Amino acid sequence: MSAVADAAVVAGLDAWRELPRRHQPTWPDADAVGRVSGELASLPPLVFAGEADVLTAHLGAAGRGEAFLLQGGDCAETFAEATADNIRNKIKTILQMAVVLTYGGSLPVIKMGRMAGQYAKPRSSDDETRDGVTLPAYRGDAVNAYAFTPAERVPDPRRLVEAYHRSAATLNLIRAFTTGGFADLRRVHEWNRGFTANPAYARYEEVAGDIDRAMRFMAACGADFDALRTVEFFASHEALLLDYERPLTRIDSRTGTPYDCSAHFLWIGERTRQIDGAHVDFLSRVRNPVGVKLGPTTTADDALALMDRLNPNDVPGRLTFITRMGASRIRDTLPPLLEKVTASGRPVTWVSDPMHGNTITSASGFKTRRFDDVLDEVRGFFEAHRSVGSVPGGLHVELTGDDVTEVLGGSEAIDDDGLARRYETLVDPRLNHQQSLEMAFLVAEMIRGS
Ligand code: PEP
Ligand code: CO
Repeated sequence: MSAVADAAVVAGLDAWRELPRRHQPTWPDADAVGRVSGELASLPPLVFAGEADVLTAHLGAAGRGEAFLLQGGDCAETFAEATADNIRNKIKTILQMAVVLTYGGSLPVIKMGRMAGQYAKPRSSDDETRDGVTLPAYRGDAVNAYAFTPAERVPDPRRLVEAYHRSAATLNLIRAFTTGGFADLRRVHEWNRGFTANPAYARYEEVAGDIDRAMRFMAACGADFDALRTVEFFASHEALLLDYERPLTRIDSRTGTPYDCSAHFLWIGERTRQIDGAHVDFLSRVRNPVGVKLGPTTTADDALALMDRLNPNDVPGRLTFITRMGASRIRDTLPPLLEKVTASGRPVTWVSDPMHGNTITSASGFKTRRFDDVLDEVRGFFEAHRSVGSVPGGLHVELTGDDVTEVLGGSEAIDDDGLARRYETLVDPRLNHQQSLEMAFLVAEMIRGS
């Protein structure tokens, strides 16, 4: 018999409508949003509740130091770039990083994309002015287009439906890549894309060679594991647009409880984590594993209040705190949070986002980050956890599988002038393929504690 949700539970899913909510588009036509909502509510879920529960259990393990989360992808996906090549390159990059972390860190790695739904962005200003012309800011492809014309910048709720279909197509290809043979560990060499002369690629070839030998050894012993042929891969995005998340929320027939079926894992951004705000209320009512980004002004009381609201039953893996303090501040701001949360004895999974606290403008005018700052924040994250005795549970990075030039540094030493060569992001700068791999080797060393 399928469970039926309590009427009060269903009604609660709309409580956010009466609460202050930040960073929502000003849709020009409320009726059109209502029609889109109805349409989204009639479309199939993108993920299943059971998959979200599996992820909760894995994240619980990461919170205890028995696994490590690798979450990566674009700052903002775009409809135009949801192509087979781009998706494959991102998957390859994440799989390669995961191999390096699994092998180097001797821990199971939970693989998660900022993919298949990362189409909405909070912006520091509602408007953008260019040459005296002011238009609504670009808020991600689920809201408006990037082109700077009045028609393109008007928020259009039909884009929510397109975001759903692009997410469905992306997730379908992700599922094919990760279960259809491509992710088979016996193809570990084939995921390497670059010139092996590059130190990161050469080092990867060594790891791949070791894994090959281990696999041949196991095969010779007669061992053969399904786990080596397929990979579990989870989808995640910032749950920013409640007009999108609400209609994709469904009542699980097994338990009668709501799950937001737009992705396995949803997070609340640093700008929308107000304790009495719409986003915290909405995500408090769905059963997926959820994350909250915590910036440098977060107090321990903020963290404890978020735990009360989002994980009152202390389910391990239900709540992840993704800290993004900035390299220069993390060693001061993180330990007090860790101490108080740890003293509460309640479960939280701690993940480092070393990207968002380290954004600068280059001399040449590009929004960028220094690879060294990004790494230093991860190092500070590990140091803080080691000093308090809490568990560093994962890494959240903005990356792409392509050879873009958006982040300064790395072994190919991208400098200020180099940024212009291939700067493609519409919002935040991403690690390129080589920088991502390099990062994985360095983080594997941090996991080992060397
Ligand atoms: C993001 O993850 O792209 C983002 C906007 O992060 P934050 O909410 O931490 O600023
Ligand atoms: Co970003």
